[in-house]
Amino acid sequence: MRVLVLGGTVFVSWAVAEEALRRGHEVVCAARGTSGQVPAGARLVRVDRDDPAGLAPLAGERFDAVVDVAKMSYPWVRDALAALGAGAGHWTFVSTINVYADEATKGLDARAALREPLTAEGGEQTPENYGAIKVASEEAVRDAVGDRAFVVRPGLITGPKDDSDRFGYWPGRMARGGQVLVPDAAEQLVQYVDVRDLAAWIVDAAEQRLVGDFDAVCPAQRLGDLLAGIAELAAPAGTELVPVSPEVLTANGVQPWGGPRSLPLWLPAEYHGIAAREVSASLAAGLRPRPLDEVVSGALGRERELGLDRERRAGLSRAAEAEVLAAARA
Ligand SMILES: NC(=O)c1ccc[n+]([C@@H]2O[C@H](COP(=O)([O-])OP(=O)(O)OC[C@H]3O[C@@H](n4cnc5c(N)ncnc54)[C@H](OP(=O)(O)O)[C@@H]3O)[C@@H](O)[C@H]2O)c1
Repeated sequence: MRVLVLGGTVFVSWAVAEEALRRGHEVVCAARGTSGQVPAGARLVRVDRDDPAGLAPLAGERFDAVVDVAKMSYPWVRDALAALGAGAGHWTFVSTINVYADEATKGLDARAALREPLTAEGGEQTPENYGAIKVASEEAVRDAVGDRAFVVRPGLITGPKDDSDRFGYWPGRMARGGQVLVPDAAEQLVQYVDVRDLAAWIVDAAEQRLVGDFDAVCPAQRLGDLLAGIAELAAPAGTELVPVSPEVLTANGVQPWGGPRSLPLWLPAEYHGIAAREVSASLAAGLRPRPLDEVVSGALGRERELGLDRERRAGLSRAAEAEVLAAARA
């Protein structure tokens, strides 16, 4: 196949380009080329999607498959469809689990109701508008190329080249051993996807012309089981997991999910649905989540590459963890 990846210089789009190359496909990546390098063997076409005519360097090209990872821009998606949709054999749009209107109810699947769409003309590109802009983008894809479109909605993505510091916090923290602060929320459900499994599924979908809307996460599991499993794989002997109640965490300024001074994967009840999706349709359609040991070694490899004691975008510093543990004991 001749595959166009809109992106290809970082994380998800880099992994898709690499997987397509590994299978012998011809890969063109279209990006500014400022965030990183495309995988060896891919051709980089320099484009700037902030310019409405930015895709002109691709004019007249035809692709068997196009993969768009536009994070938060409806105009980027609309303009790409206008420029390339007619000549594309298959179109993947990487959306997000945050498109759903109901984020609290557990066990919903990809047929659940979506948020109201928000085009960039109708609102700012802020984290609060992320899901609604993705809904508008998905709708543009379905309107233009719905007969050829694979709309894939990942939850938390981990693996090589992840720079969000979220899933990786846990393998990185467990590897340091000692007393590890964990949220006392063992029953909360959690889901994630390894970027390599997501990329493999996207390339499978293009090869097989898979069409439809799907969530891309592994089956839900208890947070307590996941953290115990990561500890078993990554922690030295003598490591102790110390559960601290959500009330004490909140009172000590610890945020759920992400950002500074946070405990990744921990979610307040109003978001429990986004990490407890029913994914049997995705598994039946070819998503193959790898075993936890491979997920953890991928995340730990990335953590070590970045430095276990770096200043983090998500998680607790050593000092913050010690402070909260002391407050919990008091
Ligand atoms: N991380 C998660 O846990 C998570 C969860 C759910 C969904 N997602 C979705 O997964 C996707 C992540 O994609 P990704 O990892 O490939 O990364 P990304 O950070 O979304 O970047 C994608 C590509 O866009 C290119 N780009 C940025 N600005 C550009 C511009 N003005 N013109 C042309 N290209 C531009 C970048 O290359 P250059 O900068 O070199 O141009 C990069 O290759 C997003 O759609 C996100 O919403 C992520």
